[in-house]
Amino acid sequence: MRGDARVVESPLDSNRFGFKVVRGRFDRLDAVAILDEIDALRADVAILRLPAARQPEVAGLASAGLPVVVADTLVWYHADLLRHVPAPLRNADLAFERCGEAHHADVDRLVERTFDGYSSHYASNPFLPRDGVLEGYKEWARGHCLPDGDPSGRVAWLVRRAGEPVAFLTCARHADECEGVLYGVTTEASGGGVYGDLIRFSQAHFRDRGARLMKVSTQVQNVAVQKVWSREGFAIAEALLTLHVNAFLSASAVPPAEVPLPADLGDSAPDAALVAAVRDACPLASPYVARLSRATVRPGNGAGARVVRVSFPVLDAGGGRAHAVAQVRPAAGGPLDGVAWLDLAVAPV
Ligand SMILES: CC(C)(COP(=O)(O)OP(=O)(O)OC[C@H]1O[C@@H](n2cnc3c(N)ncnc32)[C@H](O)[C@@H]1OP(=O)(O)O)[C@@H](O)C(=O)NCCC(=O)NCCS
Repeated sequence: MRGDARVVESPLDSNRFGFKVVRGRFDRLDAVAILDEIDALRADVAILRLPAARQPEVAGLASAGLPVVVADTLVWYHADLLRHVPAPLRNADLAFERCGEAHHADVDRLVERTFDGYSSHYASNPFLPRDGVLEGYKEWARGHCLPDGDPSGRVAWLVRRAGEPVAFLTCARHADECEGVLYGVTTEASGGGVYGDLIRFSQAHFRDRGARLMKVSTQVQNVAVQKVWSREGFAIAEALLTLHVNAFLSASAVPPAEVPLPADLGDSAPDAALVAAVRDACPLASPYVARLSRATVRPGNGAGARVVRVSFPVLDAGGGRAHAVAQVRPAAGGPLDGVAWLDLAVAPV
């Protein structure tokens, strides 16, 4: 039986990274059920969240052959706004300005200044383009620059000191709960309690408007913000692992090759046949297989003719690196019989 969540497409992530990205939250991990869902959506990257207490189950995904990156640990903190009275701001010279479309350029610049190099779960996945991560944060922040009363509940402020932007904050309101989504303080303004003031400001804003609970989250290694939260009425509520499964069932830098799988190989798709198919299909000179992991999800489905679809989600001749995926399916179409992921080191030519 699978956990209580399914993976669904994430158009924002997909557009940002040029791969088909899906997301899901699971209470526990079942490798076969998860690969089933990833296959049904022909996903490239599946971003999965599960309670950190389930960490021992991650090894099961890896040993089933799925290429998994443990991308971060996300911690959620809650503040009870019925009981906690936000403290007054420390910095009297901060001006908070509600953001609309006209603020997009300023918000973009602030995100660049505060989130460049930020260690998010995206940065842990070597297949995701770096500039896509920062662009993603900009898009996320801009998506909160909405007029008053927008039904999404999203809202953003730009914070100025002596007329100059020094910080931004984005929040969301859902019924009687609110969330501090993305906050940033420029390096120049850092260390003077500005972040603490952003938290106090948002607590007071939503408390005054009837919110009962405020939620915030970050990577466990972001100690600076957790220090502030602990002082400002928040307590840790939950820790979640973020996993990336690099399935790459759709993406290919070159048109995928489709080759028949010899019929006399038995029920499972032997590694040697998949490796040979990848070697034959690779358009780069002299590749050799550096690593192969394989998951056979339906070993009993081997009856009838089958084909291997070989794709290359990464094909970087200059960098000497290629990543290949060999999918075995019934020739008539249908779910995966087996799949192999291969890292190829490309010999210099
Ligand atoms: C993290 C960040 C918000 C801190 O802003 P700030 O205005 O400097 O924070 P404050 O002045 O209120 O101080 C917060 C505490 O964190 C500490 N701190 C600040 N930057 C730190 C850093 N890089 N590493 C460790 N501690 C840090 C401060 O010393 C202070 O602790 P103290 O009061 O015990 O001395 C800011 O550096 C930033 O925008 N970082 C990048 C984006 C980010 O992490 N956003 C938050 C998650 S959405």
